Amino acid sequence: MLDVVVLISGRGSNLQALIDACAKQDFPARIVAVISNNPDVYGLERARAAGIPTAVVNHRDFADREEFETALDQQLKQYRAKFICLAGFMRILDSRFVNRWRDRMLNIHPSLLPSFKGLHTQERALEAGVRFTGCTVHIVRPEMDEGPIILQAALAINPEEDADSLSAKVLKLEHVIYPEALKLLALGRVSISGNRATIDKASYPQQGMISPEMI
Ligand code: GRF
Repeated sequence: MLDVVVLISGRGSNLQALIDACAKQDFPARIVAVISNNPDVYGLERARAAGIPTAVVNHRDFADREEFETALDQQLKQYRAKFICLAGFMRILDSRFVNRWRDRMLNIHPSLLPSFKGLHTQERALEAGVRFTGCTVHIVRPEMDEGPIILQAALAINPEEDADSLSAKVLKLEHVIYPEALKLLALGRVSISGNRATIDKASYPQQGMISPEMI
């Protein structure tokens, strides 16, 4: 059983997807704590409702990133975290912190990486006129929104659609692939070599791609 701490900064819908997955029998991971850098977010309520311990490490209480991350580390140690899931966590983590958790920290991003790193991804996808959008679960590396890709889900863009509607559709896909990616990692079905992750073929014939029709 993999002991996971989820870091959040907001509404926590991906956290909820992870909570729901972990509640299923035979899921190979469990959430031992949820930590937020923001004290007033709905995600913390979701954790409490599920009976999961919560902690707040408010970045505003610390002089710099190093002090903030030291406090974060203390919490991670206290809960004996073996793995971290970033779920809408809006702080940049220093490379020392990231390297300590190398291959043991996951993130979800609402674009088909490596396109559209950063914020406002669906607006930018529409502006760029790309034909597909989607989301990516990847292992965290020090550079923002970079690292070995575990799973992606894709969606064809209807050019008449707006960014809000696209975001809502992509979010539904996020809720499918995030727990699935965590499961594959917890089962040891992913091997990571440098910047590439390979999923054991026998356990995942689609090789990391999910589309809405498959849900
Ligand atoms: C999601 O779109 C996720 O991909 C991004 O931040 C958003 C968090 O949403 N990293 P939620 O808090 O999980 O609802």
